[in-house]
Amino acid sequence: MNTTKPRNLAEHKPNIILIGMMGSGKTSVGTAIGNKHGMIFVDTDTVIEERSGMLISQIFEEYGETYFRELEAQAAKVVAGCKNAVIATGGGIILNAKNMALLRKIGFVVYLQLEPQQLYNRLKTDTSRPLLANLSNRAKQAKINEIFSRRAPLYQRYSDFAINNSVIPITKVARMIFNEYKNHANGENSHN
Ligand code: S3P
Repeated sequence: MNTTKPRNLAEHKPNIILIGMMGSGKTSVGTAIGNKHGMIFVDTDTVIEERSGMLISQIFEEYGETYFRELEAQAAKVVAGCKNAVIATGGGIILNAKNMALLRKIGFVVYLQLEPQQLYNRLKTDTSRPLLANLSNRAKQAKINEIFSRRAPLYQRYSDFAINNSVIPITKVARMIFNEYKNHANGENSHN
């Protein structure tokens, strides 16, 4: 994907950043990598909730999505100070190019891929995502399809590595991501 990667990438990019749709497994995979490799696990949504003292759903409800996106951009700046961390991001982080310019500087960006139908299967009973709240099953499925088709090209564009997170066990996905990260760090990137 990218053609110029510094050999000492671990020094320049000391974190792993997970991007992908809601329900793509960023928290589970990120926690697994963190536990296995002694890296801190950080989540931009948690940073937002801690800094604002509000739940993500409350922020959407009381102040709307635009305000949430401002808080998300601030959270991106906060996590940019991390080292040796696995950073899970909210699914919409890629909507702001500045977020991604910043995160790409400090981390190896991994896109967790899942097809819209698989996302729907995982999210159909979820009530925590404001963008999918109060929708019938049919409307929820349509909304996931719509968000996915708008965002998939952005997830692709901003990632150093993409991996399907549907068929193999989480521990294996975590291992593959960490190996890829290390290979990049050692300048052994076969994708260049
Ligand atoms: C959002 C995803 C959520 C959260 C917010 C908006 C999105 O995070 O940031 O509800 O725009 O896709 P997860 O991807 O962790 O669910």
